[in-house]
Order: sequence, then structure tokens, then C-alpha cells
Amino acid sequence: MMILVTGGCGYIGSHTVVELLDDNRDVVIVDNFSNSSPNVLDSIKEITDKDFRFYKIDITNENDLEVVFKENKINSVIHFAALKAVGESVEKPLEYYYNNLNSTLVLLKLMKKYNVKNFVFSSSATVYGSPKTLPINEDFPLSTTNPYGASKLIIENILKDICKADSSFNVAILRYFNPVGAHKSGLIGENPNGIPNNLMPYITKVSIGELPFLNVYGNDYDTNDGTGVRDYIHVLDLANGHLKALDKIHTSPGLVIYNLGTGNGYSVLDLVNTYSKVNNVDIPYKIVERRAGDIAKCFADPTKANKELNWSCKYNLEDMCKDSYTFQLNSISNALSVD
Ligand code: NAD
Ligand code: WQD
Repeated sequence: MMILVTGGCGYIGSHTVVELLDDNRDVVIVDNFSNSSPNVLDSIKEITDKDFRFYKIDITNENDLEVVFKENKINSVIHFAALKAVGESVEKPLEYYYNNLNSTLVLLKLMKKYNVKNFVFSSSATVYGSPKTLPINEDFPLSTTNPYGASKLIIENILKDICKADSSFNVAILRYFNPVGAHKSGLIGENPNGIPNNLMPYITKVSIGELPFLNVYGNDYDTNDGTGVRDYIHVLDLANGHLKALDKIHTSPGLVIYNLGTGNGYSVLDLVNTYSKVNNVDIPYKIVERRAGDIAKCFADPTKANKELNWSCKYNLEDMCKDSYTFQLNSISNALSVD
């Protein structure tokens, strides 16, 4: 039972591949390295001591992707490959719609042709827009405010239509909250190019002195300390959710939708203070204006995934902060040893 993992060299994909290999599943990865590096393949091998297949291809290219379907007996697909920076999507909407939609359409077309019926899709809490109440459950109204989010919502609707038309097609839509942390080995994690947009990668760069201080976007929200509240989830817990979702659609077919979050909301300053404490480092910060488009609070009601997938989060905020720092330190020592 071969599982095709698109974007398997990226942040969440690589951790999920490790989970799959640790669970003795057969994996084939496709990635074009547009936001990842070939070194990840060696790291996955080192962590798991298992073999897997890899194709360097852009999955918007149907001919290239068809080779993968021809050469492997694929049973299920986990589709991570996408462009994911919200701000960049506003600047480059065409690139975002082109990449995220075409990759998915090509994939779904080939799945149909090769009779592959099981699909797990990386969606995002961004599809809930600005929720009226909290915590957010899967039945909340959906809306988006940027091309990235819109691409996720369009794909969710495409998947719903396909399932309506074909009762043998099985889909799990997973709406992730805020993934952070890294594998315990420190070998894989999130290492964005340039100045990070997201909070945890920004904090890790400040913690090693690569950036001088954190800009905290607003302290006048209606939250415990005025800073934005989010549901941070350890990437290892998130990765495990994919295995559970895959097993779910194998045993009870159709379309299912799950929030993958912890259900806990933490503020920006909670994260800063926990990171400082557990890693014994200073995180200088300045309070600046709110960031356009941000909401005050966002956290999941994960009850449905907890019950129906028999899935729950094992790691807390301290683990997330420790593991992010370990990965960052490891990345520096690797870079130095290459120089
Ligand atoms: P990532 O950028 O680290 O990984 C995506 C991978 O897909 C990269 O390795 C990239 O090279 C590859 N890729 C992109 N377009 C491709 C294409 N056309 N062909 C082949 N490979 C391609 O991102 P991530 O954080 O691991 O996110 C994975 C998925 O989860 C994405 O769909 C993202 O939208 C979604 N998601 C991420 C977050 C988050 O905060 N990280 C939150 C919610 C949802
Ligand atoms: C978290 C909090 C910021 C950076 C984004 C996407 C979402 C999903 C996850 C893909 C907020 C504050 C941040 C900084 C700060 N991705 N912050 N200083 O915005 O909740 O979600 O990533 O699907 O779609 O929108 O995450 O990490 O950017 O921000 O004060 O330098 O940290 O204002 O309160 P966000 P984030």
C-alpha cells in the first residue's frame, strides 16, 4: 500500500513522512524543492533508517507526475505541496492560485485515471476567517481574506463536489491551526528563507542573534495580555493526525473534515516567555502596530478529531519551544560544519 506524499520535503510533510516510515508504511515523495532542500531526504533516512522513493518534480506538470503513478502502485495520497505565505499571496495572487489549484487538479485527475481513491488534504484554520465565537468547530462558517486562504477554500469545495459525484472517493480535509516545533532529533524542522513571517521561526532567529528583536504586532487586543492568541500545535502531533486520518478514510469511507489543534490558546507573550524560560535565552521585543488582517484570538475545538480519529496532542508549549530551539541550533552547527 504505497502512499504518495506531495511536498514531502517541506516542514509538515517531512515530519509526516517520518511518522509513516516509523509505522512501516511504504512512501513515495514528490517535491520540487521550491521551499525545501534535498538535505531533508538524508535527514529522513538518518532518523528512520528506512527507504522510500523520491521524485524531484513540479506536480503542476501532468506528464512528470504521471510517471510516478505509472511506476508505483499508489493507494493513497497525502497532499502537502502548496505555496503558503499569506502576505506573499496578496502580492502574487496568480502564482498562488496557479500553483495551489493546478497542482491539486492535476493530482486529482491522475488519481481518477489510476483509480486511486484515498486523499488527505492540508487545509488551514485560515478558512474560518474571523470567527464570531471560540473555540472553532468544523461547522463554523467559512470565509477567506487573501488568495492563499481562498485557494484552500476552493480546493475544499472541489473535494466536496468530487465526493458528491463519486461515492467511492474518500477524502480527509485537515484544518491545521498553528504548527510549530520540530523533530526531537533536531534534524528536520522549519527553516524559512529570509525574514520569517510567522511567530515561532521569528523567535528562533532572535534567540540565536540572527535578528535583533521581535516585533509584537499589537498589545491592545481583547486577550489576557493584549497580544494575539493562537492554537500552537507541535508538528509531531500534527504529523500523527495524518496517519490517523488515513486510517479513518480506509475504514469509514466518504468525506471527513477535522480541526487539528490542541484546543489551547496562547498569546504572543506566553510564547515569548515560555521560550525564554525553557531555553534560558533572552527574547528582546518591541510592541508595534497591529499587523493588517490579524485577528485577536483563534483556537480549535479538537473534540471531533479526538473522538473520531482517536487522536490527541502529546506535546505542550514547552516541548514546542524546546524543540524549535534545538532544531535552530542544529541548523547553525550544520551550516558551520559545511563552511
Ligand atoms: P512547506 O513550504 O514547508 O512545504 C511545502 C512543500 O511543497 C515544499 O517542500 C515545496 O517545495 C513543495 N511544493 C510546493 N509547490 C510544489 C509543486 N508545485 N510541486 C512539487 N512540490 C511543491 O509548507 P508546510 O508548512 O510544510 O505546509 C504544508 C501544507 O500545509 C501546505 O499545503 C500548507 O498550505 C498547509 N498549512 C501549513 C500551515 C503552516 O503554518 N505551516 C498551516 C496550515 C496549513
Ligand atoms: C501568530 C501570532 C501575530 C509574527 C498564519 C497563517 C495561517 C496559517 C498559520 C497556513 C499573531 C503574532 C507574528 C511576528 C507577532 N498558515 N506575530 N510578530 O497569522 O496566526 O497564521 O500561519 O495556513 O493561515 O495566517 O500565524 O505565526 O504569523 O502569527 O507578533 O513577527 O503572532 O500577530 O498574533 P497566524 P503567525
